[in-house]
Amino acid sequence: MISYSLKNQAALVTGANSGIGEAIAIGLGEAGANVVVNYVVDPASAEAVADKIRSFGSKAITLKADVSNEEEVKSMYKAMFKEFGTIDILVNNAGLQRDAAFHEMTLDQWNKVINVNLTGQFLCAREAIIEMLRRGVVQDRSVACGKIICMSSVHELIPWGGHVNYASSKGAIKMFMQSLAQEYGDRKIRVNSICPGAIQTPINTGAWSTPQALASLMSLIPYNRIGQPVDIANLAVFLASDASDYITGASIFIDGGMTVFEGFAEGG
Ligand code: BGC
Repeated sequence: MISYSLKNQAALVTGANSGIGEAIAIGLGEAGANVVVNYVVDPASAEAVADKIRSFGSKAITLKADVSNEEEVKSMYKAMFKEFGTIDILVNNAGLQRDAAFHEMTLDQWNKVINVNLTGQFLCAREAIIEMLRRGVVQDRSVACGKIICMSSVHELIPWGGHVNYASSKGAIKMFMQSLAQEYGDRKIRVNSICPGAIQTPINTGAWSTPQALASLMSLIPYNRIGQPVDIANLAVFLASDASDYITGASIFIDGGMTVFEGFAEGG
């Protein structure tokens, strides 16, 4: 019997007050999980996400923490465990871009992206795995001990000039995720990556906010539509649920076909 239910499971979604993180937090809540809505700025938007989750009868709390700050991450987990007792699902979603031509890129732009997109996933996954190992499998919640979902990108595969810091962080997430899946598979912790293409969120406004930009974006997407946050949320719920129990160490591309390189439909 396939189960997509996340009933009574405790989930943490980082960067959950907007965009993809918001949709995932709401999706997990709708599937029955109790959710920590992590944010860094704009507490009101985080509260709105928590309210939406509560409307499904699930519990939700908002917690402020910069995922690249070790102390803040530890305090966030302490507050989460006080409220929900444990963690079953971590969605390492928080991420950002600081775009620049490579020869003009500052060390601050490089460090900011690596610190949030890569080190942030390390700090959050480490605390989650410590708790999952301590607790072990709880059969009536999930056949797995824990599920970790790393937010990657099509740019763990597609090189991205003008965004070398971002592409480097996502390339690194591939090995981060696979190495964790290898190290903790025998302890029943599943680790996978979601690799979105162009999803309509604030991170890539420049790619869709004018008709010209959107038309040029469509030349990269065989399926001819921009992705929506809910497309990603549907996959995240599946990966968090026992319906995907035999999937670990996988990068799942969800991109309307961006990674089949439409430019090669003719010629080459
Ligand atoms: C980036 C977006 C971009 C998309 C496709 C994502 O990882 O954050 O800005 O539109 O990849 O290129």
